[in-house]
Amino acid sequence: MRQSGTQLLGEAIQVLKDAGVDDPARDARRLFAYALGVGADRLTLCLPEPVTEEAQAKFAQVIERRSRREPVSHIIGRRSFFGRDFVVSRDVLDPRPETEILVEIALQRRFSRLLDLGTGSGCILISLLAEMPNARGVGSDISAAACSVAARNAELHGVQDRAEILVSDWDDKIAGKFDLIVSNPPYIALSEMSQLSPEVRDWEPYGALTDGGDGLGAYRAICEAVPPLLIPGGRLMVEVGHKQGRSVADLFRFVGFEKVSIIPDLDSRDRVVMGEMPVAVV
Ligand SMILES: C[S@@+](CC[C@H](N)C(=O)[O-])C[C@H]1O[C@@H](n2cnc3c(N)ncnc32)[C@H](O)[C@@H]1O
Repeated sequence: MRQSGTQLLGEAIQVLKDAGVDDPARDARRLFAYALGVGADRLTLCLPEPVTEEAQAKFAQVIERRSRREPVSHIIGRRSFFGRDFVVSRDVLDPRPETEILVEIALQRRFSRLLDLGTGSGCILISLLAEMPNARGVGSDISAAACSVAARNAELHGVQDRAEILVSDWDDKIAGKFDLIVSNPPYIALSEMSQLSPEVRDWEPYGALTDGGDGLGAYRAICEAVPPLLIPGGRLMVEVGHKQGRSVADLFRFVGFEKVSIIPDLDSRDRVVMGEMPVAVV
């Protein structure tokens, strides 16, 4: 028997609530719109209507997946970042809203040669290239599967001719000089992994979350690798965990960066550390 959208949605919200999902109403609505194949803005109009058996079966299936705490983004295969939709999968970290701060800060000054270390879905690299039409960039990741997703996203957003995607262990395969290097590396300490939500811990790539140590391992590797890759005056900008600002800023200074600053997010928590390569005085 065909049920109305309102009935189905109410039942689904209860299923997600019982499964411990954080915002069951929001997720059920997004998944319902996905199952119906309509935009979220049109959902309210569809709710009083009877739902086809096909859409009903699809909705039941996606609600079952969500009740096993699979993220909505993995189910629908998309996540929005800096105003664009990115393809995502289990092979990449879901682009996070807090990473948009790094993109905003990077765009405050022009750049022409960009490197994104640990590019994942490519969300930082591709957003920056899309906003800076004359720039070229390299996005690298140790995960070949992540690089495939990044390459797909570069095509999706029309920057594939200006974006090179490489499999590389940090600077391993990187050549040339850059005026801007960005990274959002894995920064969760191994000891903190058990505190993550099931959506993150069980569904996102382990190597995108943690360095397997104190959470600063990737910053140490990046700080060692980056100075020879930057032109004088070039910038390094990294996302950090909310208690890591000072430690990462010290690492920047230790390898010779100048004008090192810690930029907070809207909740006044450490979010980005940036520094500049000194300009040689002749
Ligand atoms: C926190 S995720 C960030 C992904 C993406 N840049 C973003 O902001 O959503 C960290 C990324 O670093 C990559 N990574 C981890 N270790 C690496 C290494 N040794 N060399 C290069 N990339 C690495 C992971 O595969 C993952 O894609």
